[in-house]
Amino acid sequence: MSTIFIGGSRHVSHLSSQVRERLDNVMSKGHDVVVGDANGADRAVQKFLHEADYRKVTVYCSGPRPRNNLGQWNLQVVTPPKTAKGFQFYAAKDREMAQAADFGLMIWDGKSPGTVLNVLRLVRAGKAAVLIHGSAAPTTLKSAHDWETFLSGCSDGLRADLRDRATPEEWQPGSSDPQHGLFTSRVAEQAAEHRVEAPTPSPATPDKTKASNQPGAMPQPSRYDHLGKDALVRLLTRRDTERQLGLVWERDDIDPDTAINDDYVALDLDSALSHGDAPWRNLIIEGDNYDALRALRMSHAGKIRCIYIDPPYNTGNRDFVYNDRFVDKSHRFRHSLWLEFMYKRLRLAKDLLADDGVIFVSIDDNELFRLGMLMDEVFGEGNFIANVIWQKVYSPKNTAQHFSDDHEYIVVYAKSRANWHPNPVPRSEGQNRAYKNPDNDPRGPWKPSDLSARNFYGAGTYGITCPSGRVIESPPSGMYWRASKEKFAELDADARIWWGKDGNNVPAIKRFLSEVKQGVVPQTLWTYGEVGHTQDAKKQLLDVLRFESSGEVFSTPKPVQLMERILRIASNPGDTTLDFFAGSGTLAQAVAKLNAEDGGERRFILVSSTEATDEQPDKNLCRDVCAERVRRVMGGYTNSKGEAVAGLGGSFAYLRARRIAPHRLSVKLEHAEVWHALQLLHDHALSPWPNAGFAADGALAYLADFREAHVAHLRDWLAAYPCAHPHAQTSKGGDPSPHSSIKARPTIYCWSPERVRELAPDADWQPIPQALRARFGR
Ligand SMILES: C[S@@+](CC[C@H](N)C(=O)[O-])C[C@H]1O[C@@H](n2cnc3c(N)ncnc32)[C@H](O)[C@@H]1O
Repeated sequence: MSTIFIGGSRHVSHLSSQVRERLDNVMSKGHDVVVGDANGADRAVQKFLHEADYRKVTVYCSGPRPRNNLGQWNLQVVTPPKTAKGFQFYAAKDREMAQAADFGLMIWDGKSPGTVLNVLRLVRAGKAAVLIHGSAAPTTLKSAHDWETFLSGCSDGLRADLRDRATPEEWQPGSSDPQHGLFTSRVAEQAAEHRVEAPTPSPATPDKTKASNQPGAMPQPSRYDHLGKDALVRLLTRRDTERQLGLVWERDDIDPDTAINDDYVALDLDSALSHGDAPWRNLIIEGDNYDALRALRMSHAGKIRCIYIDPPYNTGNRDFVYNDRFVDKSHRFRHSLWLEFMYKRLRLAKDLLADDGVIFVSIDDNELFRLGMLMDEVFGEGNFIANVIWQKVYSPKNTAQHFSDDHEYIVVYAKSRANWHPNPVPRSEGQNRAYKNPDNDPRGPWKPSDLSARNFYGAGTYGITCPSGRVIESPPSGMYWRASKEKFAELDADARIWWGKDGNNVPAIKRFLSEVKQGVVPQTLWTYGEVGHTQDAKKQLLDVLRFESSGEVFSTPKPVQLMERILRIASNPGDTTLDFFAGSGTLAQAVAKLNAEDGGERRFILVSSTEATDEQPDKNLCRDVCAERVRRVMGGYTNSKGEAVAGLGGSFAYLRARRIAPHRLSVKLEHAEVWHALQLLHDHALSPWPNAGFAADGALAYLADFREAHVAHLRDWLAAYPCAHPHAQTSKGGDPSPHSSIKARPTIYCWSPERVRELAPDADWQPIPQALRARFGR
């Protein structure tokens, strides 16, 4: 394991695919990373590592407080000399990072002297540094000689700048003295073998240096020139054994997704749009799902049992919006845009899945193959479960040019294949229809099954006499009776043998419906007869909601039965399910339906966008279609035939994902925000902040400050609390079990637990979680 110093210019805020690949390499090898706290490259690198949830990171800062520490990693505070001002102040930490590291990876904007100085520091300390500038081939510097070669290509201005900024010990131009860190051959080999080197360019990332290989062009120095034969062989051998197969997309060529941002995301409760009495068990979140997923990662990491998504299929037909524009068929990078969009969201989604969780993704032929490879990339090829075919239409389209497109797919991956176990699917009516009762057997319907089989069975060769008197000498040729003579006699005595109406047939065993398993293993072919088709889905939506005109009808809902099938396979009562492309909210309707049927308290989280555009700025799909549909399904409605339909029950909180740019983060405490975040963290149903300085819900409480009136509230609550029993148990999810006579030990959050611990020594006093402290600058 090595330590890599990763740094770069303040003007770099976007990491190229070359840099990202190197960072992926660093993480996959488990190297330690040291990184600065500046804006620009430091922050972009931090963000990348944080999104990958990489923990082996140390952030260096000059002065007591880091400007950025996005992953709340270990902090190394460097105290600069008292006289240090400006860049010298920050250079203090750079020097220490260069000392701490074994190698350097510097991301350069082609101008910044600070980045190049770090290369110099590393080289002076005898360490290799890779300098990456845009999409050009990287420069690897390992020796004073490399440094001088590099310097000779720099502008006069940059050279002067470097000389001014470097200390005399750092700046020793012309020195090729071996004691100044010239590499030994071993270090050179290590540097080359170390996979901060770029992988072989793939077809989708053209080698921009190849022009230099054209006849007549000047040969360019290669980054392998310094390697001896052995080092080269080792390098090639390793590359040959490394994974070469995978999905590549044009990340460097597409516009960055403007939804991807570093802002803090607050989830604001809108009580007026919520449904039912608080506390609300389910969540509908309005906003971009990238924001919502980041917010949920704080509260729901590892808690979701089943995710279903139905993302835009990227048909090129106004279904996929990227950076507020529809991506049409002619867009050169349309597949790359879609892949980048999905990749960012799927990575977050994976973090939300429980270890025994599973994700179902609807898709059609437009992106099926790319989605499969993307899912392999994000969830791991070994976690593939199935590719389900859903028969989406009930009649062929005769106008189709080649084939009538009758089905879509649902791609299924587990977080961990070994940990995920599907529930059996209830038997369908079609499957049950084969069971009849021609002899009025009091045990109910049955179906005949063969008495003979091909498997060799020594005791299964006897002759049989039918009730009609016909003698069957032996089983059919090459077959054996499944039961021995004695067992057969027993079955016959119990009227479990069917001889046909006339008592003259070859005997068959009666299999009773009451005795077969009530569920069957899920199969990969789902017909519209079992799970509905697209027209059913539209009818179901229109049965609940009216639209002003047919042009406004939400056009891509899924059938409720399809969602039910998924929920039956992948969720149990009490589980939380998530749909972050919720559209019209079909998943929630299926959850409410199943809960009403079996009393199981499944919960849902839906994320839906407003779909507002420049032409329709007031459109709000989430509020007017998704939430409204779920509200009616839960509370009751009049259907399209004018009949009253009873509500299925249930409640939801309506939340809005709100981005707050780091420089606008208010340090004023928003207690409602804190209270809701704590409730979500504890998997509680949401209740509004009472605006009283103190709130409690089940065993969970939040004391906002220490004003006498608020502490008095807390005292009253504790006095009325059934029992702050030292042996009380907290049930899964934080709520006390309703069946338990001993209430759970209360968990009380406040900003300084040590100040009030004596109020309730048996309570679990918790400091406000770090993410919330950081959000409010505490
Ligand atoms: C195919 S529809 C889902 C339909 C849904 N399964 C149903 O039964 O109603 C996809 C939905 O994802 C929404 N969507 C697309 N990009 C989104 C984003 N970044 N955040 C949230 N929703 C998004 C679209 O607006 C659209 O409503």
